[in-house]
Amino acid sequence: MIDEASRLEADALAVIAQAGDHAELERIRTLYLGRRDGLVSGLLRGLGRMSPEDRPAAGAAANALKVAVAEALEGRRAELEATTALARPAVDLTLPPRRRWRGSVHPVSRAIADIWAIFRSLGFTRARGPEVDTEWYNFVALNTPLDHPATDEQDTLYLASGMLLRSHTSPVQIRTMEEYAPPIRIIAPGMVYRRDTYDATHTPAFAQIEGLVVDELATFVDLKATLAEFVRRFWGPAAQVRFRPSFFPFTEPSAEVDVKRVIERSDGRREEKGWIEIMGAGMVDPAVLENVGYDPERYTGWAFGMGPARVAMLRHGVADIRAFYENDMRFLAQFA
Ligand code: DAH
Repeated sequence: MIDEASRLEADALAVIAQAGDHAELERIRTLYLGRRDGLVSGLLRGLGRMSPEDRPAAGAAANALKVAVAEALEGRRAELEATTALARPAVDLTLPPRRRWRGSVHPVSRAIADIWAIFRSLGFTRARGPEVDTEWYNFVALNTPLDHPATDEQDTLYLASGMLLRSHTSPVQIRTMEEYAPPIRIIAPGMVYRRDTYDATHTPAFAQIEGLVVDELATFVDLKATLAEFVRRFWGPAAQVRFRPSFFPFTEPSAEVDVKRVIERSDGRREEKGWIEIMGAGMVDPAVLENVGYDPERYTGWAFGMGPARVAMLRHGVADIRAFYENDMRFLAQFA
């Protein structure tokens, strides 16, 4: 019995020392110390069949075995604990924390928001219209006959249904006038679509901002004064505005509006930039007013349309419009 105990102890200590993880240790614990079928428990039960003289020494040996196995199990458990703790990745508390990713407003969206804020303070409200529209709204009601070059499939993206992707925001003029009586004073930003070549100054989808004023005495002087005020508020009081005669089917007379920016340099010197076209504008053609049921004898109107991406290019010195629409985060993050 005493031999048996020391043999069991030697075996137990050997397997415990080899145990690779906690699950294995638990299996060993059950094998030796398990209450019902454990080898050590079996040995203790055997004491009952022994003679009273042999019993005390055998009992002491069995108990010593039980304690030795329990201690060996606990020792190995602590050892395993320590090595797995070491294996865990070290936490370096001196490292700076990971920077939180912050979004920012897209530069074209910001240009739209800033342009809109200026016109809102000048008494304009915001209007919107659908991006999928009809030839009537996109062309005909705007005094643009369907044989006009602008309606050519080269420029306009038609859908199978016969509808089209609006090629400018001017159809919002028609929809607004159909819905409301004068006076009208609206700004309508939105996306427009054209079958253009994709290059440094053209993208097939781009933003436009439409403006429309209709009233009993809306004049070309109002148009010039309002747009000049806009340019000075957007680019600073030194910026200059120029109106060049132009043509649009829906305005008469029509103008293209150029801006000359004056940059204050860090050495205090002023740098004059060249003239750059930023929008088309003009007096609403009486035929357009007639198309929406307004009386052209009573009402006059003026309108304009500009490209906020163009404005954002000027503002940030970006030479290629595609950069705004390719959504390279390294580019966009510069405007955060
Ligand atoms: N719709 C014109 C375009 O896309 C821009 C434009 C010109 C809008 C003159 C107007 C305007 O409202 O009066 O090229």
